[in-house]
Formats: sequence, C-alpha cells, structure tokens
Amino acid sequence: MSEPLRVLITGAAGQIAYSLLYMVGKGDVFGPNQPLTLIMLDIPPMMAVMEGVVMELNDCALPLVRGIVATADEDVAFKDIDAAFLVGAMPRKEGMERKDLLAANVKIFKSQGKALDKHAKKNVKVLVVGNPANTNALICSKYAPSIPKENFSAMTRLDQNRGQAQIAGRLKVPIDHVKNVVIWGNHSSTQFPDVTHATVVIGGSEKKVYDAINDETWLKGDFISTVQKRGAAVIAARKLSSAMSAAKAACDHMRDWFQGTPEGKWASMGIYSDGSYGVAKDVMYSFPVTIQNGQWKIVQGLPVDDFARAKMDLTAKELCEERDDALKVCEA
Ligand code: NAI
Repeated sequence: MSEPLRVLITGAAGQIAYSLLYMVGKGDVFGPNQPLTLIMLDIPPMMAVMEGVVMELNDCALPLVRGIVATADEDVAFKDIDAAFLVGAMPRKEGMERKDLLAANVKIFKSQGKALDKHAKKNVKVLVVGNPANTNALICSKYAPSIPKENFSAMTRLDQNRGQAQIAGRLKVPIDHVKNVVIWGNHSSTQFPDVTHATVVIGGSEKKVYDAINDETWLKGDFISTVQKRGAAVIAARKLSSAMSAAKAACDHMRDWFQGTPEGKWASMGIYSDGSYGVAKDVMYSFPVTIQNGQWKIVQGLPVDDFARAKMDLTAKELCEERDDALKVCEA
C-alpha cells in the first residue's frame, strides 16, 4: 500500500462536504487501495459543527482513512496537499445579486490561491466547486503562479450528469448507456449543454442521441433549459441547493482526473482556455476532455454549427465579464 494521499476538502462543515467526505473516504475517487489523509477546512464559527462531522467520519470506520485534520487555518490545510476540493464559499442569499456573490467569493479564492502557491505540492490537482466556480478557479490559479494552470479546474460535471440523466430518462435506458453530452462554458444559466455529439446504446446498438430522440424542438429547447435551470429547480423543491448530486459529480470529476476517462468517453470540465473552438483565452471554460496519466486534453475537431456557435459565444462573454469584475475586486 502506498503512502496516504493528502486530500483537502474546504467548506467541510457544509452540506456538499457532508456527502463528499464519505464518498472520498470510502475510495470512490482515488481507488480502493489508496490510503488517505482527509484535511477539512472551514471558517472559525463552524468549528463546532465540523467537530461533529469528524466524529461521524470516525464512526464510519473507513479503512482507507488514515488521518483526519480539521482546521480553520489555511496554512495548515494547504500543507503538502495532493488534491483539493474547494467547496467552501459564501452561499447566495435571497436578493443577492450575482455580482455581490462574486465579490465575496473571489476574495476567498484569492486567499486560497496564495495558500496553494505557498504550501501545496506543485502537482496538486484543484477542483473548484464553490460558485461562481469557473471564475473562482481562474482567480485561484492566478494567485498560485508556481502551480501549472492545467492543475486548476471548475466543476461542470454535475451539469453533464444532469444532461445525461435527462436523455436516459427520456429514452428509458440505463444512465451508463448515454455518453458524451458536452457542457460548454460557464457553470451558470448561460452554459450550453450540447447533445450533438452524444451517443446512446439502445436496442443493442449505438446511435446518435439526436437520431434516437428525433425531436429537435425538445433537444434545442426544453432539454437545454432544464439542464440550465436544474439547480434552481432543486432549490425550489428542497429549499436547499443540490448537495448529494454535487458531491457525486465532484467525485466523478476528480476520479477521472486521477484515474483517466474510460475509452471513448469524454468528461466536461472547466479548464484554462487555450483558445480552442475560438473561445476567448484566459477564462476557465468548460470543454469536453479525455484524460490519461493525470493530464487532460481537449477533444478537438468537433463540428460547431451556427446554433452552437451563438451559445458558446454567449457563455464565453459572460465568463470574460466575470473575470474582469473579479480582477477588479482582487486588485482593489
Ligand atoms: P453550504 O453553505 O452548506 O457550505 C459551505 C461551507 O463553506 C460552510 O460550512 C461555510 O462555513 C464554508 N466556508 C465559507 N467560507 C469559507 C472559507 N473561506 N474557507 C473554508 N470554508 C468556508 O454550501 P454547499 O451547499 O456545501 O455549497 C458549497 C458551494 O458549492 C456553494 O458555493 C454552491 O453554490 C456551490 N455549488 C456548486 C455546484 C457546481 O456544480 N459547481 C453545484 C452545487 C453547489
């Protein structure tokens, strides 16, 4: 058995972390033979709650968990880490504008970027879940210049999972028969969930989702808006935002990053844009990727029609605006 991996989960007293800690601790991400030290970070007022979560983690009796560190000190939390799930952020309160949320949260990610730069292993893999996830990931990376930009990412896997679940439900096939729904752009309501390249195994053979569903009006209309607005629908029903599904998606994202994407399957993740598909550079844009040996590669050469182009540009524009606003907040 190898040395324990040091895995940081921030927002550790919050609702996503409550599911995520268990999933990571039982081996869903780093595999059944990889021991772990789980490092939990939250803010000082949440220390008592976090103590309760630590008690429960201990009581889960997870053989892979070799150590637990619970702290409110970034210098302790980021020390020598191999992987970081940056979940902790200020939640959006009623009446709060997206801009107010952005201002509050980019400051957290500026500080955590600096802590990563100072303390983490240089090959650390960072997944930002806390919203606005793409822009937070960008800011984090900017304040951690000693760590390669490729090691930062933002979560759009929940959107991919939501899209694939919609398709599987409509076609009444098991979820793992649907693959390669792509999420382009921002994890926000401007994201573009794209089924143009997706396939489904139905009746024993692989077909394009477009042909299997054969309802362009739905695919270009309700399907897209359902995925875009799914987060709001969960909040309306549960009075709390998605947590179990967000934790599962974070695990899917990090597992694929560490262990690779299965042959023929793509994952969508917010990554540093190199300008592929004519997207603006210097934003964290969600692209389809394949991953091998811990390195992602953007899937290239997919045809982009006018409908897709307009949607991909719209979400890029939003990301550029968020970036400019965030940089102003950081530099103020
Ligand atoms: P929550 O409010 O239950 O928990 C957040 C935790 O973060 C709290 O315990 C809070 O004290 C902590 N926190 C705040 N500032 C911190 C800091 N500076 N350092 C460490 N911890 C800090 O929220 P929940 O439901 O767990 O969601 C967390 C974030 O994930 C939110 O920003 C939410 O919008 C986002 N999210 C993102 C999704 C995605 O697909 N990218 C999906 C669902 C949620």
